[in-house]
Amino acid sequence: MKSSPLLLCCLLFLASPFATPATLPPIESPPSKKMKRIEVLHWWTSGSEIQALHSLKQKMETTGHHWQDFAVGGLAGESAKNTLRIRALSGNPPNAAQIKGPEIHLWGNSGFLTPLNDLVQTEDWDTQIPAKIADYLKVKEEYIAVPLNVHRVNLLWANPMLFTLSGAQLPHSLDEFFIAAEKIKKAGFTALALGNEPWQEATLFESIALAVLGTDDFKKAFLLGDETVLTGEKMHLSLTTFRRMKQYTDSKSPGRNWSATTALLIQQKAAMQFMGDWAKGEFIAAQKKENIDFVCLPAPGTQHQFSFNTDSFVFFKTKDKQIRAAQKAMANLILEPEFQKEFNLRKGSIPVRMDLDIHAFDACAKASKQAFLHAAKTDNLLASVSHSMGLGQAGQSALFDVLSRFFNNDEITPEESIRHLRAAVLADKL
Ligand code: BGC
Repeated sequence: MKSSPLLLCCLLFLASPFATPATLPPIESPPSKKMKRIEVLHWWTSGSEIQALHSLKQKMETTGHHWQDFAVGGLAGESAKNTLRIRALSGNPPNAAQIKGPEIHLWGNSGFLTPLNDLVQTEDWDTQIPAKIADYLKVKEEYIAVPLNVHRVNLLWANPMLFTLSGAQLPHSLDEFFIAAEKIKKAGFTALALGNEPWQEATLFESIALAVLGTDDFKKAFLLGDETVLTGEKMHLSLTTFRRMKQYTDSKSPGRNWSATTALLIQQKAAMQFMGDWAKGEFIAAQKKENIDFVCLPAPGTQHQFSFNTDSFVFFKTKDKQIRAAQKAMANLILEPEFQKEFNLRKGSIPVRMDLDIHAFDACAKASKQAFLHAAKTDNLLASVSHSMGLGQAGQSALFDVLSRFFNNDEITPEESIRHLRAAVLADKL
């Protein structure tokens, strides 16, 4: 398929070039001129994300397939998803793309995607992948996406040295969070590392709302669109608690991306960050040690809840035999035990295959797996509303906008925001 000069120019502008970190082994064997490359669109551009993806690129090369990277970083995937829409709708889709959550069904129903049964054996997948996650990956009982991992979103990262220097204790409830934050601030440190991008603010809000609303009301409000809970007192308290946290952030937070924000903890410049466990990938890439340089704990007040987020790839239909063979190899590789281990150790997540042993993983990952299994049994497993799992594109974008405006503009009252929040969550139903 040919692309127009205008589209090419736009794609070149949107693609974010990045250098492979020096620590990564080189990809073997340069491709022969005749060999086609499988073009993969994704949004992994931080140091740890690049390292995790490198495992896949390298394994693809060793099976004789060549990789063409199309990385569109930024905004936890928003920019990449927009680019994908432009490319697919103009008849020039990539061969594989990172998509997740309810959007997989939209793409699946649109007829663009290759059903995976045509490429690989998926019979065992139902026993390997948790049912709650498998539901996202199937259209009419057929798999159309292959999952890589399970990320936990409701986590708090802490720098133990700054806690010790401030005489603060690690917080297990929101009240304890404010006590610790106050001490850390008084000791002259930034208590809360936050980048003022709407999705990072929403990630923080999600953890607060989980604690304040509890599982049932969180589900009712955000996943079922119950208007009474959406506009009730607990939502009011979630919003005011969210804004109360602003005083603990630093003045340079506007526009700072998530990995630069995690770097503040790595460099002893800030004490805490609310972020999913992809943050652990950054600590590990910086050679930091768990429980010495950083601590991972459930977001205060959400010990029993697990807000889940799964990354996955889909494959666009093609008649090209070489590309189909590469798609097949990629779909097979992703669920292989060795790859699952290598990728997730670097990415900070846990393997999506629950049948795999994770004794080689760190304590944070082990706790995450235990929390996932426990939450699944006790009905505390919740699709993340800040990471494209719980809401559709329209609802999530509107929610980000409402939360960001509320957080950054003290003149907006909680009552006003609640009205907009209700409309945002219900936007998916329009
Ligand atoms: C994705 C992660 C990614 C993070 C930051 C999340 O939505 O699931 O894989 O590392 O965004 O880009």
